Amino acid sequence: MKYKITVLKGDGIGPEVVDQAIAVLNAVGEKNGFGFDYHEELMGGCAIDACGEPLPQATLQMAKSSDAVLLGAVGGPKWEGLPGGKTPESGLLGIRAGLELYANLRPAVIYQALRDASPLKSEIIGDNIDILVFRELTGGIYFGERGRTGAGTAGEAAYDTERYSVGEVERIARLAFEAAGRRSGLVTSVDKANVLESSKLWREVVIKVSKEYPDIRLNHMYVDNAAMQLIRNPRQFDIIVTSNLFGDILSDEASMITGSIGMLPSASLGSGTLGLYEPIHGSAPDIAGQDKANPIATILSTAMMLRYSLGQAASAELIENAVKRVLEKGFRTGDIVSAGGQAVGTREMGRLIVEEVKNS
Ligand code: IPM
Ligand code: MG
Repeated sequence: MKYKITVLKGDGIGPEVVDQAIAVLNAVGEKNGFGFDYHEELMGGCAIDACGEPLPQATLQMAKSSDAVLLGAVGGPKWEGLPGGKTPESGLLGIRAGLELYANLRPAVIYQALRDASPLKSEIIGDNIDILVFRELTGGIYFGERGRTGAGTAGEAAYDTERYSVGEVERIARLAFEAAGRRSGLVTSVDKANVLESSKLWREVVIKVSKEYPDIRLNHMYVDNAAMQLIRNPRQFDIIVTSNLFGDILSDEASMITGSIGMLPSASLGSGTLGLYEPIHGSAPDIAGQDKANPIATILSTAMMLRYSLGQAASAELIENAVKRVLEKGFRTGDIVSAGGQAVGTREMGRLIVEEVKNS
């Protein structure tokens, strides 16, 4: 049995963290009797350099015909200032939309071994923090109409539009409620319904969908309050469901309370099993190519891939447990070494996790 994986290493630290993730995938496959056909394609700045566009057709076609897509990160100072639609980031938005991956799952979990890396006090963390953010990924202000008016005049202005249809809110809300049934049964919907019309609709639709899930509790929170509550009392959250922009912001915040953005994986899903798996962090050009990056977010993204796209839940757990054990043994990349322990580089962290997989 072989799975077809499109690999988009991207820019900055992307290639080095993806290499470690592939090593871990191979080790799990060898152990559990399946394999992978990797197809490396270009997306982001590297694609701009090679083909003059951030998302070549060949990349999207290959991704569409795959079981899953593994992505590192895109962007960097080299490509800043390009016109909209020509940026590395627009390649990322293009592949999310092109594959119709409307739901972005971002789990923020505190590893006990890393408690001291969290900027939060121990009494706020309590026993554990385990939040799953459902970020709407193919709508809202990221994809709404935008433009400039009055160029070159004193009244020059720019605008972006937040727009949500009932159907777009329904489908992400439904996924969040379904997932809540498998967790603690609480959904917090985050919006700005005290000001924005799009948020008023968001809230109406979430309430309507919630009627189909009588066993799930539903809370609503304005986004400014949610940003505060994540720091004040993160344990009150289980599942957060929110728009593209609010989800982008709140998931970075949620990641930081776990100690480092270098720890957080993500899965982007649509209506089928095809998914795109990427760390939530960026391309970190300042440390690229120096063996300093934390590969764990990308390695944990492969665990999500095994679980959501490939139906290999046991193998996903194998990876997650291997990561846990390496952290418990005290090995740390630079971003999490403040919690104490032994500093290692990207490659060594990957090797240690591969060893744990093999020995488990
Ligand atoms: C993310 C990133 C992207 C986003 C950028 C790189 C376009 O911040 O995946 O969270 O805003 O979605
Ligand atoms: Mg982001």
